[in-house]
Amino acid sequence: MEVSKALIERRTIRKFTQKRIEAQDLTDLIEYARLAAYPANMQPLKFAVISDAETVDKVFPFTKWAGYLPETGTPKEGERPTAYIAILGDKSIKNSFEVEAGAAVTSMMLGAWEKGIASCWIGSLNRKELMELFKISEDDYALLYILALGYPAQKSQACNMTDSVRYFEDENKTINVPKRSVEEVLIEFKK
Ligand SMILES: Cc1cc2nc3c(=O)[nH]c(=O)nc-3n(C[C@H](O)[C@H](O)[C@H](O)COP(=O)(O)O)c2cc1C
Repeated sequence: MEVSKALIERRTIRKFTQKRIEAQDLTDLIEYARLAAYPANMQPLKFAVISDAETVDKVFPFTKWAGYLPETGTPKEGERPTAYIAILGDKSIKNSFEVEAGAAVTSMMLGAWEKGIASCWIGSLNRKELMELFKISEDDYALLYILALGYPAQKSQACNMTDSVRYFEDENKTINVPKRSVEEVLIEFKK
């Protein structure tokens, strides 16, 4: 797949088939994140793969989904992610991780898309409970995000934004994600 195709077509997916993701594919995603661009090349992130069915089930209750689709946005049993990658900041290296997390998660989402694997970047998390579940200490690591993964069981597409940024489900159950137009996002500096 061309990089440009993944960049244009990747959309957040929140419903998944229950086909498991091969371990090697998950390892590949870590490889893409490991090689991303990081400020001063500090590389302060750590990654944890959660793919055994029992732990995957335990993570789900600590994740929140689709704020704009309270009725239909949260995956039901049988539609839930089959794996997660937790993105952690290693406090022994530095103490701010937002830019780094953006680079890492973007690389993983695009690399996953190329493999036919869909994702949802999750920031709305019960971090305290998840840290306990993962048995990691806040002294050592910050739990930044979780990337939910699985093969897609819904369609999502970008559409032109008119009056709202809220994504919505259409009559075919396709998610439509309003994006600002090129005209709106492109500014020219005065000469
Ligand atoms: C930092 C960050 C946190 C996010 N957290 C959540 C979340 O907690 N739950 C969720 O369902 N989606 C979450 N998303 C997904 C966004 O809602 C989604 O990227 C946005 O609606 C645009 O859709 P697209 O990814 O298909 O372009 C998050 C995205 C980002 C970048």
